[in-house]
Amino acid sequence: METKIIKIDKTNCYESETGVECEISEADLAMFSKAVEAIKNGDVLAFPTETVYGLGANALDSKSVLKIFEAKGRPSDNPLIVHVAHKDQILPLVKEIPKLAQKLMDAFMPGPITLVFKKSDKVPMEVTAGLETVAIRIPSHVVARYFLERVNLPIAAPSANISGRPSPTSANHVYDDLKGKISYIIDGGNSDFGLESTVVDVTGKIPVVLRPGSITANQIKLVCGDVLGIGSHTENVDDSNYENALNQNTPDIPMSPGMKYRHYAPVAKVILVEDNKLGDYEPYETVCKPDTNDKTVLSLLVEIDCKTDKSRQDNIGFYDFTLLLKEYLKQNIKVGLYCSKEFCDKLITIFDSSDDIKISDVHIICFGHEDDAKSASKGLFAALREMDDVGALVVFAQTFPVKGLGVAYMNRLLKAAGKG
Ligand code: TXA
Ligand code: MG
Repeated sequence: METKIIKIDKTNCYESETGVECEISEADLAMFSKAVEAIKNGDVLAFPTETVYGLGANALDSKSVLKIFEAKGRPSDNPLIVHVAHKDQILPLVKEIPKLAQKLMDAFMPGPITLVFKKSDKVPMEVTAGLETVAIRIPSHVVARYFLERVNLPIAAPSANISGRPSPTSANHVYDDLKGKISYIIDGGNSDFGLESTVVDVTGKIPVVLRPGSITANQIKLVCGDVLGIGSHTENVDDSNYENALNQNTPDIPMSPGMKYRHYAPVAKVILVEDNKLGDYEPYETVCKPDTNDKTVLSLLVEIDCKTDKSRQDNIGFYDFTLLLKEYLKQNIKVGLYCSKEFCDKLITIFDSSDDIKISDVHIICFGHEDDAKSASKGLFAALREMDDVGALVVFAQTFPVKGLGVAYMNRLLKAAGKG
């Protein structure tokens, strides 16, 4: 099957009274019309959103939905998010719109948030993987809305990557993963946020963040007065009243089934580096620990004469980051680094010209300034993919404090490092 790319420039789209209009070249418009017909007739196709690209099919048709699982190689017990263009399309898909949900819809939709409701009978079990709840999202990306308005159906869509790979933030990423498997990719440019939406369960009295994203727990708390979080990386948000649902011992709190799978994993081993540990020649703390299951780099790690901080008794490994980096380079191991400009500048001063190894041997991708969690998040998945493309076997990636947007960034980075 040939995979065709339909280009729609979001800067040529605008909101009108009747919806979104886009100026599209004649050839792309002809393809777009065919793509809209195809998805109405049961096909799957990829489309852009402000978070990541989605792989969509008619959410009301079980057979079409099953094609998504097939194309992605996705486990069938992982439910899909249903995308709609307008708020009035939500009610038929759900049992009720609780007050809590209405508040969040008013505050954040359209935008990078997904709400989990009790589902109506209209939504097939294939979408929800057998759950009695359904996840719904209205993307803010103009091209996504243009597409959803033209299709005029609820569209079930996971991220448009092969299961387990980093989510795609450009049409090229989708093409790399799914060429030959789908007929159309709508190319609306690079995704603005680069991390998937915040998933919030609104079926109970208090909203529960099932997956952190760029809409933070604090923003939700400001709107609803209270918020709970699932998992170990949501507990340190900047608001001390933000509670961790798992620690609250509340067995009936729903989980997000997708969070249990290995995700965002590049071929390379990902090692986390704390920025403030670089440059002072103390043992550099990383959350890296030799992984006894990892055949590719385990031998390298144990051969390396790491400086170890004997005072710490926990399981976290302490390695001198620069020693580790130099050791990999000496052994001709392709190394990548995802970091801020400031981090990179500091690193350069640590290498001196007498060294036979050079910083230029490291494949460095800078995301911007050191406190810019937004840029770091936006570029993370693209960077992980680029590291695979250049054949990096080890990728050092800079951490962020686990608060605000740093919660979502660290959640994804820890998963990429096999620790989430
Ligand atoms: O930003 C996004 O959310 C992107 C774009 C394409 O919209 N989509 C996305 O889909 O990330 P996916 O399938 O990769 O992730 C959906 C997440 C999974 O963790 C899944 O388990 C959870 O949402 N989810 C879906 N339906 C659910 C439900 N009924 N209850 C709890 N979690 C649900
Ligand atoms: Mg995904």
